[in-house]
Amino acid sequence: MKILVINGPNLNMLGIREPKHYGKETYSDLLKKIEAHCEGKCAVDFKQSNHEGDLVDFIQSAYFENYNGIVINPGAYTHTSIALLDAVKSVMIPTVEVHISDVSSREDFRQISYIREACIMTVSGKGTDGYLLAIDHLLNYIQEESK
Ligand code: DQA
Repeated sequence: MKILVINGPNLNMLGIREPKHYGKETYSDLLKKIEAHCEGKCAVDFKQSNHEGDLVDFIQSAYFENYNGIVINPGAYTHTSIALLDAVKSVMIPTVEVHISDVSSREDFRQISYIREACIMTVSGKGTDGYLLAIDHLLNYIQEESK
């Protein structure tokens, strides 16, 4: 079982950017935390970019490289990108959307998520633990689907 974790714009700035929304853990802390969580459960790889087209390429690569599931935090592209929605629909790989902050209690422009309708679940407001919840949900989902 292998999972691809994709992070969008500014998530490489974790630990520096707006700690009141995103906490103090760095991007590298996040990757270590996810790796430790996945040990003995599944293989995990990571991609991050600040560019929308790169994120589309990462989603497509999950198809060509036979990933079983995707966890994606599209950052601000959540609220603008039909291209990411179409990419997730194209690959037909179970995908969970993650937001570190509780987007539902933030600005109006954060209330729209284009990608959500193509995802099996959205986790929001659970801090970086949201990625771990997303992975566990994906693994259960994939196991159930294979029965
Ligand atoms: C975010 C929420 C988005 O609104 C924001 O643009 C981000 C991070 C989150 O993880 O809470 O970059 O996706």
